[in-house]
Amino acid sequence: MMRGKFITFEGGEGAGKSTQVRRLIAALDKRGIEALATREPGGAPSAEEIRSLLVSGPPDRWRPLSEALLLNAARNEHLERLIRPALEEGRWVISDRFADSTTAYQGYAQKLGTDVTAALEALVVGDTKPDLTIILDVPADRGLERAAVREGRNPEGETRYERFSMRFHETLRQAFLEIAKADPQRCVVIDAVQPEADVSAQIWHAVTARFAEVAT
Ligand SMILES: Nc1ncnc2c1ncn2[C@@H]1O[C@H](COP(=O)(O)OP(=O)(O)O)[C@@H](O)[C@H]1O
Ligand SMILES: [Mg+2]
Repeated sequence: MMRGKFITFEGGEGAGKSTQVRRLIAALDKRGIEALATREPGGAPSAEEIRSLLVSGPPDRWRPLSEALLLNAARNEHLERLIRPALEEGRWVISDRFADSTTAYQGYAQKLGTDVTAALEALVVGDTKPDLTIILDVPADRGLERAAVREGRNPEGETRYERFSMRFHETLRQAFLEIAKADPQRCVVIDAVQPEADVSAQIWHAVTARFAEVAT
């Protein structure tokens, strides 16, 4: 059985990650590829419990290292209980955020240092690196505006990260671009200011260019 493909979506708040994960799942489904949609933090029951500690409450709820450790604990649960078994069964896994978010949020924006996030990533992610990472790039204020409009559909109040400073969100955007520059084989940056359908067309192009299973 061939290992499934692992695709991650990254970017700041309101960049369009959740929207584009749904669109990619639908496009793959049309090609007869059943892909699993998942998210971080979360993606497994135990990891979703940790999520609830992270996505609500005041921005300073956690010290940056504690936050990185919680995220990696959740990631380990996600990897061991869902991602690795699915990939081994030949299923595709599409994750809304993954390890690059910890690099960007805690490593860069919360100033923990990327040496720390890289060490945790080596320990937890190991060889289970994404085959492709789509980075949705949008100016921080634009993304936050979109996220604010969406709040009506977010009754859980998962707004902790949206309440970090504008400077924090600007740093995040630059961080994701740095991550892409450092790993151009894996990462594709897409201008997410474009209309939703244009963004998804570019994502589909990146996916078909990379994977023979869906090549046109
Ligand atoms: N390309 C786009 N242009 C304009 N609005 C968008 C676009 N993509 C998504 N949106 C809208 O912006 C909001 C945030 O999108 P979402 O996918 O939830 O972002 P994220 O998961 O990255 O935080 C949603 O209301 C969504 O409908
Ligand atoms: Mg989302």
